[in-house]
Amino acid sequence: MEKIFIRTFGCQMNEYDSERIAGILAKEGKYEFVNTETQADIIIVNTCSVRQHAEDRALSYIGRYVNSKKVIVAGCMAENYKSKLFIKYPKLFAIVGTFNIPYIDKIIKKGGLYTGENKDLYKPDIIRNKSIKSYLTIMQGCNNFCSYCIVPYVRGRERSRPVSEIVQELKILADNGCKEVMLLGQNVNSYFDENKKVNFPQLLKELVKIDGIERIRFMTSHPKDLSDELIETVATEKKLCKHFHLPVQSGSDHVLELMNRNYTSSSYIEKTSKIRKLIKDVAITTDILVGFPCENEKDFEDTVKLVKTVRFDDAFVFKYSVRQGTEAAKLNDDVPETEKLRRLNYILEIQKKISEDINKRFLGRIVDVLVLDRSFKNSLEFKATTETNKKVYIKGTDEMIGKILKVKITEIRSTDAFGGEIV
Ligand code: SAH
Ligand code: SF4
Ligand code: F3S
Repeated sequence: MEKIFIRTFGCQMNEYDSERIAGILAKEGKYEFVNTETQADIIIVNTCSVRQHAEDRALSYIGRYVNSKKVIVAGCMAENYKSKLFIKYPKLFAIVGTFNIPYIDKIIKKGGLYTGENKDLYKPDIIRNKSIKSYLTIMQGCNNFCSYCIVPYVRGRERSRPVSEIVQELKILADNGCKEVMLLGQNVNSYFDENKKVNFPQLLKELVKIDGIERIRFMTSHPKDLSDELIETVATEKKLCKHFHLPVQSGSDHVLELMNRNYTSSSYIEKTSKIRKLIKDVAITTDILVGFPCENEKDFEDTVKLVKTVRFDDAFVFKYSVRQGTEAAKLNDDVPETEKLRRLNYILEIQKKISEDINKRFLGRIVDVLVLDRSFKNSLEFKATTETNKKVYIKGTDEMIGKILKVKITEIRSTDAFGGEIV
């Protein structure tokens, strides 16, 4: 049996795609999955193109193994560079773009170049995931064309999977022991099953009916499409986690316009206020992009002001990275690297203080946690998560794994980790 190792770079969608690759190949019964590169005959590298740094990491990884192993490059970089990767690495065995992942079983035998669109959506029957927490991609692609972003170019136009298939896949996951699912889409708010006329809140109402699934999360919500119906659904359905990941990117209306985000800082703040008003103890997290072309000190201050106003639970901050082929690549990348770094660190520092404040209020509270596994660092402890996706470490026994328990928060360990006791 040929031995396979899969290495995943990039976002949750790539994690999910890697699961599918493993699922398809496991079904063949001809391969063994190994845990290190050295044991492997075939290495599948699932890649990301979102920033230059992500590409550089994948390129150096490919370079390390391409001469000694059968290397297959899959995912967003495969779609972005296509045959150019063969020019860079003549010994590469195969290039599999995001649309061709369903054909990995054939590609792994033949090798070659497989990129470009096809209309096949994911099928629900190849899931081999047996973990308590799983990802489930409900829609592929993106139509938003934010001016900085490569995703619409490497993942194509938006396609929603049919409700019936999502339900079927989630039932399979539940049968395999899944308790918590994270639904994935670049903009879940625009999910729509054309045949059944089902929108995202209606899909959620179908999925909460599935036995065994205790918690449902989703990401990402584009602020421009976040509806009152969705906020109300999260407020009323018990299984829906009280957490919104709502990337704001910038607090400057001028920059938001250049980014093609289609909302203003005040409409964003209004939406977050509405969420907080309707859902008690909700967590709101965000993504922020600093150093976009033309972002001046005043624009940056607007972002700082927004961060202080909204008081996010957490923020992921990125330095703008030019992506060839996007609209923003036509603009002059005029914020110096050192200034981008200063802005990034400045936001991180403010955010750290806000997160610490929010965490202090958490001390002494009793919350529901889902127990995931034994902790890596301390084998006497178990790792669990709150509905708002914060980690809580507790003592106990293996029987707790997969259960939702009430714990009292007794200790703050870091910005997103706590110690707790079962009550
Ligand atoms: N669909 C999601 C985000 C996908 S990419 C959304 O709309 O929010 C994840 C994050 O990467 C983005 O939110 C953005 O902050 C960041 N990002 C995307 N393109 C980037 C680029 N060219 N340079 C730096 N960061 C980028
Ligand atoms: Fe990229 Fe914007 Fe689509 Fe998100 S919504 S994937 S940032 S184009
Ligand atoms: Fe995800 Fe990176 Fe592709 S963020 S969609 S793996 S470009």
